[in-house]
Amino acid sequence: MARDILKTLKAEHDQLRALFAELGETTDRGVKKRQSLLERIESALIPHAKWEEEIFYPAFRDRADRDGQQVYAEALTEHHAVEKTVIPEVHAASPGTPEFAGRAKVFGELIDHHATEEETTMFKMARALFNAQERAELDEAYAEWKESAGAQAVMAGEKAKAAVKGAVKSLTQ
Ligand SMILES: [Fe+2]
Ligand SMILES: [Fe+2]
Repeated sequence: MARDILKTLKAEHDQLRALFAELGETTDRGVKKRQSLLERIESALIPHAKWEEEIFYPAFRDRADRDGQQVYAEALTEHHAVEKTVIPEVHAASPGTPEFAGRAKVFGELIDHHATEEETTMFKMARALFNAQERAELDEAYAEWKESAGAQAVMAGEKAKAAVKGAVKSLTQ
């Protein structure tokens, strides 16, 4: 089967949905399980989101019509809401508490909403804007980027930022 960036991004969405479903089944006693699932979610989400923001979204915006530009703006604003508000709030809660469970649930709901919107609107538009060859090339570029030192640095930086913002939030709550 030919490579296709849209299929790869969709598969990553499904992987995230599965991890959030698992997280939703944990109890307040499952502290270790919650921590490890949150870690896996962030390890999957951060490179996905950063690459969309840096490469895929700008490429999409450059070719999109007016409606596509709005779709781009919506998607980016959702990324920012998750990054700046939702993830720090999850980190500010102790994993063995109902606060954590509630915040993690909202985190999963927003990701599902965002991913579904990408799949049904943005990716649908992108399928018409990028031919099969371009989608295959983007897919290869994404795989290479994920292995690169730059991507590893982004991951480490984003995780540190989320932890610091979470700590500040728990002090000010
Ligand atoms: Fe996205
Ligand atoms: Fe996505």
